[in-house]
Amino acid sequence: MGVSSTTPHLLRAARGEVVDRPPVWMMRQAGRYMKAYRDLREKYPSFRDRSEIPEVAIEVSLQPWRAFQPDGVILFSDIVTPLPGLGIEMDIAEGKGPVIFSPIRTQEQIDRLRPLEPEADLPFIKTILQALRQEVGNKSTVLGFVGAPWTLAAYAVEGKGSKTYSVIKNMAFSDPTTLHQLLAKLADAIAVYMRYQIDCGAQVVQMFDSWAGQLSPQDYDTFALPYQQRVFQQVKQTHPDTPLILLVSGSAGVLERMAISGADVVTVDWAVDMAEARARLGKHVKVQGNLDPGVLFGSKQFIRDRILDTVRKAGNWGHILNLGHGVLPETPEENVAFFFETAKQLDAAGVGR
Ligand code: CP3
Repeated sequence: MGVSSTTPHLLRAARGEVVDRPPVWMMRQAGRYMKAYRDLREKYPSFRDRSEIPEVAIEVSLQPWRAFQPDGVILFSDIVTPLPGLGIEMDIAEGKGPVIFSPIRTQEQIDRLRPLEPEADLPFIKTILQALRQEVGNKSTVLGFVGAPWTLAAYAVEGKGSKTYSVIKNMAFSDPTTLHQLLAKLADAIAVYMRYQIDCGAQVVQMFDSWAGQLSPQDYDTFALPYQQRVFQQVKQTHPDTPLILLVSGSAGVLERMAISGADVVTVDWAVDMAEARARLGKHVKVQGNLDPGVLFGSKQFIRDRILDTVRKAGNWGHILNLGHGVLPETPEENVAFFFETAKQLDAAGVGR
């Protein structure tokens, strides 16, 4: 048997090998739609406890693994988890998301930021990733993830999630020099963190630039793309063989720009037809996606038809089957189970065997 037979499916597809069916995982596959997660949340009501106490985070990551055997098992964490290491204190509020205690608004605050020291600041990440690798062996691929500079800057500057991004756009358009310094510091910290995740066992790492779709294309070129490139370039210098995935929410207007970020795999959401996304991204970029998470509210036949449609349009190379964004908390667990079962019975042409 060759080396590749012991290399897990998702990793092989992300490296561009032709595989017998598209690998499958689901963004947010660990979380609220699972009863096992909701039960555990009662015992550990704080998100930071659930994600930073290694035994709890490991258990949460493994809940979907045990239930559905996805081809990817993602670290249970959050994009804001490394911020306290830089000196940006935060919490993750129930039903609200990240809250930054002292939002970054001045040059002086940016000057005071510390470089990330992952061994000291994020020791639990090593314990979690090593345990996940140990547990899944060659049967699945362990994914790490990070937030991108623009998206983490949006949290750091706004202080919380936002609909309009008024505070960071005010900074971007009236005091860009200050924002560029913050973005540069975040990019370097994120690259350090990505390398650390890989050294600890992550085999593929996804970068979430969730809020970059809120930028016009010209502003994306100024405030998002160069910093995505800075992170990916730094990581590729030391870890050239680890596939890197990029996600932008609402990315339809910037797909071609994502293709030049340096990511190996571009996540495509459901606002774009997968065949058109392939044509726009070109022959070298692999794709992930792109089912509407709402599809999982449909009948089994409907779910199956949509899976087949995406897989046929993506073609038989370089496709990781996934939703276009996170699974919704109201999703019936049995439909998630059906999604995985159906996906694992496909062949590469998207025809059920
Ligand atoms: O995919 C996975 O299973 C890994 C888990 C994961 C979480 N956050 C756990 C979490 C991942 C990949 C993230 C990334 C993340 N966090 C992003 C990028 C992904 C995206 O959606 O675009 C963003 C923007 C955040 C910031 C954040 N953290 C938000 C918007 C929220 C949700 C607020 C809410 O309650 O709706 C959080 C909290 C959070 N992070 C939850 C989970 C499962 C929900 C709270 C909970 O389950 O207790």
